[in-house]
Amino acid sequence: MNGLLLAVESSCDETGVALLDGPRRIVAQAVASQVALHAGSGGIVPELAARAHLRWLDPALDEVLGTAGASLADVGSIAVTAGPGLVGSLLVGLAYAKALAWALDVPLVGVNHLEGHLYAAWLLDPGEPERPEPPFPLIALVVSGGHTFLVEMRDHLSYRLLGETVDDAAGEAFDKAGRLLGLGYPGGPAIAQAAAGAPGRPERLPRAWLGDSYDFSFSGLKTALRRLVEAELAAAGLPQAEDGGRLSEARVAALAAAFQESVVDVLARKTLRAAEATGACAIVVGGGVASNEALRTRLVGGASSLGVELVIPRPGLCTDNGAMIGAAGARRLAAGERAGLDLGARASWPLARPAGAPHSRRPPRRGAVGRAYAEIRDAEADAAGRVAR
Ligand code: KG4
Ligand code: ZN
Repeated sequence: MNGLLLAVESSCDETGVALLDGPRRIVAQAVASQVALHAGSGGIVPELAARAHLRWLDPALDEVLGTAGASLADVGSIAVTAGPGLVGSLLVGLAYAKALAWALDVPLVGVNHLEGHLYAAWLLDPGEPERPEPPFPLIALVVSGGHTFLVEMRDHLSYRLLGETVDDAAGEAFDKAGRLLGLGYPGGPAIAQAAAGAPGRPERLPRAWLGDSYDFSFSGLKTALRRLVEAELAAAGLPQAEDGGRLSEARVAALAAAFQESVVDVLARKTLRAAEATGACAIVVGGGVASNEALRTRLVGGASSLGVELVIPRPGLCTDNGAMIGAAGARRLAAGERAGLDLGARASWPLARPAGAPHSRRPPRRGAVGRAYAEIRDAEADAAGRVAR
């Protein structure tokens, strides 16, 4: 593929634009975060998110072209997130990317956001020395605000689903716990920060092992935390969390540490067990929760005792960004994939399906209305906990 690859990400609350030279090398990238915009409501407001993408795409593109010392004439192909995500937000990025692809007459490819998170592990920053690609077979853990799953990869763009969350995504659990503890949005970084102030070993909150499976469940942990917080607030004669009640700073720190430890323990153990059981040569981790220091430390220790290579991108490449969409898009373009101008947004788009379930675990619904209904329900499930109510 000649020229630079331009990548556009707008599935949720970050507007990401990047220029890549080849499948791995970032030439320049810009991420406009909407954290401040949504902080007041404690979650993402979809309509505001879509409008903010529209506001920030042009400046982000100008910035990356400026940093790269490039112009649109240097763009040889375009990759854009087509799902999963908030439909309004996706549509803004899609329309933008399609218009550019049409005007520049360059190939376009639609990328699954989750594949982007996974391919962030292949990226090289500008000026970063070359390093070998993660070796196959490998285990990939994706832990984001909307998704949590483990896949085995024996080759590029090929996934065998080992397990996934049966309820909340890990990031969603962090966000809900953050709200419960009065820590605000997004909960993940706030909990990590609060937990860092907790002395000693964290107290024990429950972990859902779900037998020998590689599936995850975080809703029981969230409920256990809620019960504890409610009981402690009541005992102290304080209002409940939704009415502004908040435990002491030391208690918030202790509970944040206990919650984080419980999530990290399950994520790390299942990932390491999967790597051992499948004879993986490497583990790659992606998604916003992969920027969690406690999880990273735990996996570094575990992977080195297994003798398995571990690749976790730097935190800025774990959270949503355009470069990761470029990394996955470049592989898809190289495999010959092209999207037309009819490329649509997909609210729900599993990267891999459970073995034995070729299409969906849910009972099939017939007809256009049934499909629309299922799409809306999937979208709501994806957005649950991330969207302000
Ligand atoms: O991948 P991402 O940027 O967006 C999605 O695709 O969802 O992930 C966002 C999620 C949020 O739930 C956020 O709370 C969580 O990642 N997160 C963290 C940390 N940084 C972001 N969770 C735990 N520890 C962190 N340091
Ligand atoms: Zn994401």
